[in-house]
Amino acid sequence: MRAVVVTEYGTPDVLVWQEVPDPVPGPGQIRIRVAAAGVGPTDLHIRAGHLRGPFPLPTPGILGFEAAGTVDALGDGVAGVSIGDEVAVLLPQLGGYAELVVADTWVRKPDSVSWDAAAALPASAEAAVAALRQLEVAPGEDLLLFGGGGSVGSIAIQLAVEQGIRVLAVGREHSRADVERLGATFIPTAGSLTDAVGESTDRVDAVLDAVGAVDLTAAVGLAGGPARVVTLTGAGAKDGVQLLHSGPDRAPGALDQTMPLLASGMLQLRPRVTYPLHDAAGAHAALETPGPHDKIVLLHN
Ligand SMILES: NC(=O)c1ccc[n+]([C@@H]2O[C@H](COP(=O)([O-])OP(=O)(O)OC[C@H]3O[C@@H](n4cnc5c(N)ncnc54)[C@H](OP(=O)(O)O)[C@@H]3O)[C@@H](O)[C@H]2O)c1
Repeated sequence: MRAVVVTEYGTPDVLVWQEVPDPVPGPGQIRIRVAAAGVGPTDLHIRAGHLRGPFPLPTPGILGFEAAGTVDALGDGVAGVSIGDEVAVLLPQLGGYAELVVADTWVRKPDSVSWDAAAALPASAEAAVAALRQLEVAPGEDLLLFGGGGSVGSIAIQLAVEQGIRVLAVGREHSRADVERLGATFIPTAGSLTDAVGESTDRVDAVLDAVGAVDLTAAVGLAGGPARVVTLTGAGAKDGVQLLHSGPDRAPGALDQTMPLLASGMLQLRPRVTYPLHDAAGAHAALETPGPHDKIVLLHN
């Protein structure tokens, strides 16, 4: 097969489209022919060499935590899915920027869901479900959320609001309309967080940092301590703030929960822009440009 390989850690031009051996599905795994692969900010950090500890790249090193495509091979013991089925897959071990990828976790793609939407769902939905479960936010509680305009944050808003949780979404002004449309109360980042939140409430029950690079001091204060404050990145995990758990058991069923919501229109994903799969370097360069970005999906035919 051909894949986008990380030839060395560095700038986007280290991503090279080349021939590599076909992956073989092991027991319990499926292999898909990739139609679309999602690109996320973590991919950029891995490529740049900032995450060599948690995400050591194998050889060949192929990025991509999520993809969608057609099942083309089954490992031993796989049931409930057939060759030719259209699925979306979650790839905690990476590998999505390729013509073929093997996966342990998948969900059927309904006909009404486009390839690019199917590929944009898995990693963000799984993280959003995992974060809400880890925080144990309950109906009637207040959740303070940073990054509500992002892929994970926008899904977290919708899942939380649907459960009867009030979401106060802290963000930059350009995300106001989006987070309000999804049912959150917008809190501008400019000025004092405590003052801005104070117009709605003097305390919150839980905090989710879906940005990873914000000062959580005031938010921890509003939550009465860090016990129910979760961040998605190591940069935010200090002073008692919990890093989102890792591991395959953190959000079982997340794709089965969210794909039907996406198909029915009850869950909306961020706008997407597409690049050809072979031009992952161009996609990374675009995502690294400062300023707001749409979700990027790589397409292959
Ligand atoms: N631990 C995990 O398993 C896991 C899983 C998925 C993602 N992540 C990490 O979680 C973070 C979010 O991922 P994502 O896919 O949702 O990313 P994304 O779609 O790019 O969204 C990022 C969000 O952060 C906001 N943001 C970025 N820079 C900011 C700044 N300087 N000040 C304030 N807000 C800022 C953006 O706000 P605007 O909308 O205003 O631009 C946007 O809402 C990333 O760091 C990613 O690496 C971790």
